[in-house]
Amino acid sequence: MRARVRAYYEASAVLWPRVRLSYASKANGTLAVLAVMSAEGCWIDVASEGELRAALSAGIPAERCCMHGNNKSAAEIELALDEGIGEIVADNFEELSLLATAPSFQPNSRVLLRLAPGVDPKTHDKISTGQAETKFGFPIGDTADAAVRYCINSGLPLAGFHCHVGSQLLDPTAQVEGARAIAQFAVEMKRDHGFETQVLNLGGGLGVRYTDEEPMSIQDYCTMLIGAVKPVLREGGLEPELVQEPGRSLVAEAGTTLYTVGTVKTMAGTRYVVVDGGLGDNPRPALYGAKYALVHIPAEPRDASEPGPRTTVAGRHCETDTLFPQAILPADVQPGDLIQVLTTGAYASSMASNYNRYPRPATVLIRESGRVELVQRRETIEEMLDREIVPEDLLV
Ligand SMILES: Cc1ncc(COP(=O)(O)O)c(C=O)c1O
Repeated sequence: MRARVRAYYEASAVLWPRVRLSYASKANGTLAVLAVMSAEGCWIDVASEGELRAALSAGIPAERCCMHGNNKSAAEIELALDEGIGEIVADNFEELSLLATAPSFQPNSRVLLRLAPGVDPKTHDKISTGQAETKFGFPIGDTADAAVRYCINSGLPLAGFHCHVGSQLLDPTAQVEGARAIAQFAVEMKRDHGFETQVLNLGGGLGVRYTDEEPMSIQDYCTMLIGAVKPVLREGGLEPELVQEPGRSLVAEAGTTLYTVGTVKTMAGTRYVVVDGGLGDNPRPALYGAKYALVHIPAEPRDASEPGPRTTVAGRHCETDTLFPQAILPADVQPGDLIQVLTTGAYASSMASNYNRYPRPATVLIRESGRVELVQRRETIEEMLDREIVPEDLLV
């Protein structure tokens, strides 16, 4: 994680005078991960009250947090402003009106506008956000122009613009087009309204390797992205702080999940290896047909066996929660063996649920020294049941 943050900073700092990373905490909101990111110089991107409170609990001051969300409640906006949030990214006119009438706006808090640049990110539909037909942000054009005028007229501390076009992007064309579009818009706002952009947030989205993908290196990616906005900004006489907001590319490959095999059986010619997890701890295979690389770890050291027959690795939930279709695993996989799933650091534990009333698993952090520390203990059944209320007259 640390190496990847540093790679972003190193690649960006030589290209532009003021750069910053804001870690998208939705990717993995474990408090220890937030603390590592903050120690490496990242701000924290939070998208809800819960994510903001998590960052505060990890010791990160609100002034180093940037709040997102496409339907922030009045209470969330109030909390963020009371805490002295560094940046709040307005998604729509309702939010702007809540901000304009908010009782407290601390001097360090600034507003950004989320813009929809209308580019096709060419990724899974469920993680596409920057296209013209999207629920996120103000479309670049008359609507975004009206949002800027609204901020100016109501005295909101507008500092700049943001866009995030999608996630797990292996072809960076969309980010480059999106970044160029918001830079161009910033230049137009200077020309038309004398508004001087101080912050331009280019979002996250860089893809990672799950199986055989070949994502761009962080270095090449930053060179391409910053290279795209630089001439536009220079020509327009703007020198904002350039922010990137990666999540997946900082944490995905740092994470791994260990499952224990419970049973092995063959059904209509397919071998099933069933593990003690699945949909509840990683919904990505079910949501997006996500694929992963697996490693088989025998419970006790034994001689390597031949590759086995066509294998489906299934979870234990009451759905066909196939974690991995067509897995290649040895012939002698047995109950008690471990299956290690690679690249589960992003959007797995943060998307986990209690489906079937399984408590969520524990997380350990492997330190640079090799020391292993528990940073999230296993959830208990009691914690799950704690928020339930059975009306008196229904109690048997
Ligand atoms: C506003 C915003 N910023 C950043 C990210 C992080 O994206 P990624 O994890 O692909 O880098 C997301 C992901 O959904 C997002 O919605």
